[in-house]
Amino acid sequence: MQKLLFLLLLSTTAIVVAQEKQKIAFGPYIQQMGTKDATICWSTLESTPTITDQEGNVKTIGEYKHHKIHLGELEPNTTYNYDVLNDGSDEGKGTLTTYPDEAIPFNFAVTGDSRNRHDVHAKIVAKIMETNPRFIINSGDLVANGRSISDWEAFFEVNKEFMKNTPYYPVLGNHEKDSPYYYDLFDLPNNEKYYYFTVGDALFIVLDSEGKQISQPEFVSDKNSDAFWRDAFSEYFTTQKKWLEQVLELNKEAGFVFIFQHKPLYSAMKNRMAEAEETRKFWGDIFERHKVQVFLNGHDHHYHRATKNGVHYITSAGAGAPLYDIEVELPETKKSSKIEHFVNVQINKKNAFLYVTDINGNEIETIEIKRRK
Ligand SMILES: [Fe+2]
Repeated sequence: MQKLLFLLLLSTTAIVVAQEKQKIAFGPYIQQMGTKDATICWSTLESTPTITDQEGNVKTIGEYKHHKIHLGELEPNTTYNYDVLNDGSDEGKGTLTTYPDEAIPFNFAVTGDSRNRHDVHAKIVAKIMETNPRFIINSGDLVANGRSISDWEAFFEVNKEFMKNTPYYPVLGNHEKDSPYYYDLFDLPNNEKYYYFTVGDALFIVLDSEGKQISQPEFVSDKNSDAFWRDAFSEYFTTQKKWLEQVLELNKEAGFVFIFQHKPLYSAMKNRMAEAEETRKFWGDIFERHKVQVFLNGHDHHYHRATKNGVHYITSAGAGAPLYDIEVELPETKKSSKIEHFVNVQINKKNAFLYVTDINGNEIETIEIKRRK
């Protein structure tokens, strides 16, 4: 069913004049989605202050205003057209489709480490759009430098046509640098660092492998550096772990469980294997115990799948960052490829298929998972 949704604008002269001056810099784009509600965001460029260094070099800084509307009382699994500007132009227009309130087939997309090769990123996004997913999750490092607004401008430009119709869920990567831009631009559940949402009876949990960005204080030396960082992050990650247990327990009837974070639990890169092992130790048997089917991450710029005790650990980080070699074949490695790619996941009644596809549309592998009991 197609419904036309009109977003009301106040009709005072002052507001109309302001609207005419507005230029959308980001969006509009779909964020949080539910069965009866949705959030649409967009940003406008308000002014362009400058900053000048000692040599007289002038840099222009955009000052943006971030807009957000929450729509309620929508119908489940229903498509609406929206127009956030309502000014007769196409600039503020898009389409959203609410999530179903029952377990019906749907598909979603996974990509990661889009970073700085925008031509590769654009090609991957175009391929993903052909699969018409309900939503997309980016496994982190969306941009090369989260604290550079021009990086976000490039990211939103590549995704403009896609994001105006499709919810986009990011995962915090190290390159996001815990930037205020990230929290300004995205509207996510919970604390926006780690969160979950459901579609039908499938559960999607996004974890934060990065923690807060803090500088190393001067009193920390090489000798006590490891201990300092362990203590600094201990409470944050322990709290997150408790939260994860609660979410998994709360949703124990879910038919499918997908978990996302930026850093891998199984790394095929020599200098990252030790950290991956530490991360595995931290999470312990939580994923196996709760019968999580798939854990997806980014960070290592290639495709890699390890499987252990029924859980698939998939590295999908091939959407624009420079590719890395597969340096190691682990005992748990089932498939690996140094290739630009994305994953399309088709959820059915009794099973799901993960179609791992390269940038040209060729199959890398297809994985079947069964619905949980
Ligand atoms: Fe990374």
